[in-house]
Amino acid sequence: MKKGLIVAIDGPSGAGKSTLSKRLAEDLGYINIDTGAMYRAFALFSKKKGIDPADEEGLARLCPQVLIEFSREGAQEKVLLNGQDVTADIRTPEISLLTSRIAAWPAVRRTLVDLQRRMGEKGGVVLEGRDIGTVVFPDAEVKFFLVATSAERGRRRYEELKAKGLEVDLQQTIAEVEKRDADDSARAEAPLLQAADAIAIDTTRMTIDEVLGEMLRVVRQRQATA
Ligand code: DC
Repeated sequence: MKKGLIVAIDGPSGAGKSTLSKRLAEDLGYINIDTGAMYRAFALFSKKKGIDPADEEGLARLCPQVLIEFSREGAQEKVLLNGQDVTADIRTPEISLLTSRIAAWPAVRRTLVDLQRRMGEKGGVVLEGRDIGTVVFPDAEVKFFLVATSAERGRRRYEELKAKGLEVDLQQTIAEVEKRDADDSARAEAPLLQAADAIAIDTTRMTIDEVLGEMLRVVRQRQATA
């Protein structure tokens, strides 16, 4: 028996996916799965093991050694890599760029997509990423594709990093966001792509609450007919 719908949220970095995915899951009483955090944890593991991001075979050898889990302590969601809390370590600009490179390899994607399917197949989940509505769950009952201008997305990422006390430059952050988008969209394997049946929302000039309200309206409508 399925416990609820599968909701897919895709889009480029900084479009609001993480915040909205968390809030939407909370409001629906669903589990939230941040698939970007899983690619980030894999990237951190490869760095610790000294594997070059261009070395596909080396990365493929790591696949069976990687265990990624999510845990929750109160409102705080944690990412565990082989039992260790890596929540903060996976959010640095260096890991962001490394993640984009390792996420291009089919062996890495196969491993993480399998894991994501096992985590989400029972339903009652919100998954956010780049390929959820196209590859991971092409039959998801609700699909959103969030977008925003790169200047706005870069500004949001800049504020986020600054709030964490990291020294960052706005123009450089925008350039990094654009570089990652270009890499994520151009790769041969599961590129960032809007599913034909996804609902696109441009969040550039919308508040989080406005976007959330729109998403909830769509999900509730789908729940009523499911
Ligand atoms: O959403 P994020 O910024 O945490 O994602 C980190 C990187 O992982 C980003 O470069 C895109 C990649 N990614 C992916 O290829 N597929 C996913 N389902 C999620 C993230």
